[in-house]
Amino acid sequence: MCGIVGYVGPRDALPILMGGLRRLEYRGYDSAGVALEHDGVLEVHRAEGKLDNLVTVLSATTARGHAGLGHTRWATHGRPTEQNAHPHVDCDRVTAVIHNGIIENFEELKSPLVAAGHVFTSETDTEVVVHLIEDALAGGLSLEDAARAVLPRLEGAAAIAFVSGRDPGTIVAARISNAGGVIVGYGEGENFLASDIPALLEHTRTVAYLEPGELAVITAAAVRFLRFDGSAIDKVRTTITWDPVAAAKSGYKHFMLKEIFEQPRTISDTLLGRVQRSSGLVVFDQDLRLSDDQARALPRITFVACGTAYYAALVGKYLVERLARIPCDVEIASEYRYRDPVVVPGQLVISVTQSGETVDTLAAMEEARKRGARLLTFVNVVGSQASRMADDVIHLHAGPEISVASTKAYTAMVVDLYLFAVYLAQRRETIAPADAAKLLAEAFHLPTLMDAVLGEELKVKALAYRYHEARDFLFLGRGANYPTALEGAHKLKELSYSHAEGTAAGEMKHGINALIDEHLPVVAIALRDSTYKKMLSTIQEVRARAGVVIALANDDDLEIAGKADEVIRIPRTNELLAPALAVVPLQLFAYHVSDRRGNDVDQPRNLAKSVTVE
Ligand code: AGP
Repeated sequence: MCGIVGYVGPRDALPILMGGLRRLEYRGYDSAGVALEHDGVLEVHRAEGKLDNLVTVLSATTARGHAGLGHTRWATHGRPTEQNAHPHVDCDRVTAVIHNGIIENFEELKSPLVAAGHVFTSETDTEVVVHLIEDALAGGLSLEDAARAVLPRLEGAAAIAFVSGRDPGTIVAARISNAGGVIVGYGEGENFLASDIPALLEHTRTVAYLEPGELAVITAAAVRFLRFDGSAIDKVRTTITWDPVAAAKSGYKHFMLKEIFEQPRTISDTLLGRVQRSSGLVVFDQDLRLSDDQARALPRITFVACGTAYYAALVGKYLVERLARIPCDVEIASEYRYRDPVVVPGQLVISVTQSGETVDTLAAMEEARKRGARLLTFVNVVGSQASRMADDVIHLHAGPEISVASTKAYTAMVVDLYLFAVYLAQRRETIAPADAAKLLAEAFHLPTLMDAVLGEELKVKALAYRYHEARDFLFLGRGANYPTALEGAHKLKELSYSHAEGTAAGEMKHGINALIDEHLPVVAIALRDSTYKKMLSTIQEVRARAGVVIALANDDDLEIAGKADEVIRIPRTNELLAPALAVVPLQLFAYHVSDRRGNDVDQPRNLAKSVTVE
C-alpha cells in the first residue's frame, strides 16, 4: 500500500521525489519521508501524517542530493508515527531503506541483530533490513552485493529500495513477491524508480517492470537488472501511452467528483472498438487469447475480487449466467486460497481489479493457476501485476483512478462484464443475434443516460445534506441490483464513516426488519424491472414500520412517489445494464454526505488505494 519513488541523476533529487510522492499519496498517507545521498553523506527527513507535514519539515532544512528515495506509508507494523516512517536507517545513518509490504520473518531476523548490538529505533518490520545491509556492507560488500545477500533471507511481500553513502550515486531496488510493484523509469543521463506509473509520467514514459526475485541497480548512466543469484536479465522497455493531464483534478473539488463525472466518457472509451461492425460480434483485443472453441467449452467460471471489484464481479455472475448459461461463482479473493477450492478441468478464473496490484486478488490468481485454471483478468492499470500474470487480459480503459473510493473503474468493470457476457453468449449461441444487437445498442446509449443522471447531481446533493447526520443506512436491491445495493453501502461507509449495510431485499423478513425505525434511512433500488413489484412490497413493509424510504426509481415511474419519502430518478435502460447506471446517484450520495461532514473524500481514514498487504 505504500508509495515508493527514487531518483539518480544530475538534478536536485528532492523536488523530483516530492513531486512523485504527491502523485502517490493516495497509496498511503500515515507518514512520508525522503533519504538523500550527497557526496557519500546521507540525509533523512520524515514526518507523521500527510505529505504537507513533510513539506513543512523540509522547509526548515537545506536538504539536497543527486540520489534519493521517497516513501509514503500506509501503516502495517507499528503505529503511524514519525519514528515508524520510512526511510529507515542503520546505526551509523549511512544506508536507508524504503519498503512496501510485510516482512513476515522480521522478528526471527531481528533477535540476533539486537544481540549483536544493533539499536532499533522503530516498531516496524522494515528496519531489520537496513541493519542486515549494514552488516553486509561492513563485511566489504558493495550495496548491490549486500542487497543480493540479504534479500533471499526476507520472507513475505515486499518491494524494497536502498540508497547508501557507501555506494554514492546508486539506488538498488528489488521485488520479492507479487505484492508491491517496482517500476524503473529511463531518462537521459538520469533514471527513476516508482511503485506506480503516475509518479514517473512527468519525467519519462519509457519504463521496465521488475518481476518477483529481480533487482535493479540504478545509476545516472545506466540500469542493470539481475536475479537474486546474480545472473543478468535483459529487460524489455515499455512505453506508457496515458495522458498525465488526465490525472489532475481539472477544477473539481475532489478527484472522486471528477472521476464520477468522467464516467460517460470512460464508458464510451470502454465500448470503443468492442463491437465488430461487419458481424455484430463483441471482440476484445489480442490480450484475450481465449479461442471461440474454448469459450464454447467453458464448464464453469469463478470470479475472484475484493471490495468494490467484488461487487462488480457479482454483477458479472448475474450477466454471464443469464446470457451465456455458464455456472459462475464469485469468491472474495482473500478467502479463496484458504479454503481448498475446487477447480474443474477447463475452468476459467476471472479476477476483477482496478489496480491489478491487490495482494489478495493476486494470491487467489496464483492459487487458481496452481490448480490448473486458466486466468483472465479485468484490470484497469496497464502493465500491473495482474495483467502480467493472467493468460488473458481485458483492459478497462477507465484511465487513472486517484480517489481511494472507486467509481469510474466500477462502472467500467460492469460494462466490460456486460460485453463479455454478450461475447460468450454469441460464441455459445445462447442468445439470438437480434437480442445481442439490442443489448449492444443499449450499451452504446449508456453514456447519454449517465449524462442525464449526472445532470441531477444537485437533487442528490440536497438529499445527502438532508440525511448526512444519520448514523446508520440500509441499502436494498434485488436481482442485478442486489450488488448495486452492496456497492452503494460500501461507498457510503468508506467515505462517510457511517454504518451502512447492503442487503438483498428478500432477506428483510429473515432478520433485518428488526433494525427498522424512524432513524434508519433505507435506500431502496426499485427500478421498473422484473423485481419491481417485489421491491414495492418491501418498501411498503419498511414504511409500515416507520422506516424512512429513499427510493431509486425510473423517471417514468408514476406509482413510486406516493410510496416513498424521497425519490431519486434515473432513466430506464435494460435490466442487465441498469447496475452501471443505478450506482451513479449512490456514488454522488456518498460523495456529498462525506463532503458535508467535512471528511477527506479522496483519502478516507484508515484506507489506501492499493491494498498490497494481506
Ligand atoms: C473501493 O472504493 C475500495 N477502495 C476498495 O474496496 C477496492 O475496490 C478494493 O480494495 C479492490 O481494489 P482493486 O480493484 O484495485 O483490486
